[in-house]
Amino acid sequence: MPGNLTLARADDDLRRPPTTSWLVEATRTVSYTISVSRDVFSPDNPSLADAGTAGADNTRRRFVVIDKTVHEIYGGLLDSYLRHHDMTAQLCVLDADEQQKSMESVMEVVRGLDEFGVDRRREPIIAIGGGVVLDIVGLASSLYRRHTPYVRVPTTLIGLVDAGVGVKTGVNFNGHKNRLGTYEAPATALLDRNFLRSLDRRNMSNGLAEILKIALIKDRELFERLEGFGGPLLDERMQGATPETEAAARDVLRRAVHGMLEELQPNLWEGRLERLVDYGHSFSPSIEMAGLPELLHGEAVCIDMAMTTHIAHRRGMVTDAELSRVIDVMHVLGLPVHHAGCTPELLVKALVDTTRHRDGLQRLPLPVGIGDAAFVNDVSAEELRLAAEAVAEVARAVPSGAE
Ligand SMILES: NC(=O)c1ccc[n+]([C@@H]2O[C@H](COP(=O)([O-])OP(=O)(O)OC[C@H]3O[C@@H](n4cnc5c(N)ncnc54)[C@H](O)[C@@H]3O)[C@@H](O)[C@H]2O)c1
Repeated sequence: MPGNLTLARADDDLRRPPTTSWLVEATRTVSYTISVSRDVFSPDNPSLADAGTAGADNTRRRFVVIDKTVHEIYGGLLDSYLRHHDMTAQLCVLDADEQQKSMESVMEVVRGLDEFGVDRRREPIIAIGGGVVLDIVGLASSLYRRHTPYVRVPTTLIGLVDAGVGVKTGVNFNGHKNRLGTYEAPATALLDRNFLRSLDRRNMSNGLAEILKIALIKDRELFERLEGFGGPLLDERMQGATPETEAAARDVLRRAVHGMLEELQPNLWEGRLERLVDYGHSFSPSIEMAGLPELLHGEAVCIDMAMTTHIAHRRGMVTDAELSRVIDVMHVLGLPVHHAGCTPELLVKALVDTTRHRDGLQRLPLPVGIGDAAFVNDVSAEELRLAAEAVAEVARAVPSGAE
């Protein structure tokens, strides 16, 4: 951690009030790997056993936090894996869902860490689960003794392309989404799409919404992949039943993660408030919280994207043909474009909240055609009302399975 200490001003005049001050400056290097690793619980795959230790004197003791459903499905495999690699682990099984994404769950993890007596130089915590578990463990890791390394093993599509790859952690608080959180990079993340084979269809769609986001704002080819293969990717849970769908699944994941990291890496601490990855996330936090427990994160994001595509269309930034291609792909991916709770009043309130969060400007990313975007600061309440009406109309015409 390089740094600088400067005596900014020495008080040499004793008649004046004391003004001596120091300027402390330090920068911290953030470095972590994200690797695609098929079959992480296969005994002959050492990546999980070695993850986060950088070849150091590795005690093979681990505190493993795992999602309850994932434990039910893969607990036996995990157990055999740990035994095969002579690892002793204490498991903390979290019954994690959005409503349990709270400080209480973080406390459960840190209490477990304390009882386990983790040696944080040699024993990275392992987090296995969807975005909820990853966010809870990330926050616990940043709190426990101020920093304890952790390894992410995402098991949902949202986890693979979004929650598993950045540095944000967080839990919901006081009725607000992710109101408490930190920036805490994992030691490493292992992306294994084999986990998706047991994911239900709705959670697959949920993750595809985040992939669609990347496609709409910056990757037209990714959009075309979703247009061509969205149905099979969803039906096959990205397991590649044919050579074509295997190639599509691999390409879609690689593009989605790469596109996400291209946006995150230069702005890890979010100092720059104009963030393309905020696309679909301007109104969705309020839509999601108002729609809990009915709406999943990606569904709320898709409703936000459907609305903002309509706003862009009315402004002439998206053509008629592009608008209908976007809405068609949303339907193919099994995503909703509307929710009854998404009223003009809620949208106006959400925009006020988002504007406050973005330091007084809307900084709203809007799509430009397909695969590009621009920031605007002047979306009006009337535009929101018209967009909400338009998506409600679309939903009435072609009801989506998720609604
Ligand atoms: N930190 C970030 O940058 C970031 C980014 C995006 C989303 N998130 C957060 O992620 C959360 C959403 O993540 P999520 O969609 O993964 O939700 P989730 O963690 O609740 O998982 C969804 C459901 O899938 C189950 N599940 C997980 N893996 C499974 C598997 N392989 N097979 C069968 N079932 C499985 C879980 O038990 C849960 O019921 C939100 O809280 C969101 O705020 C964080």
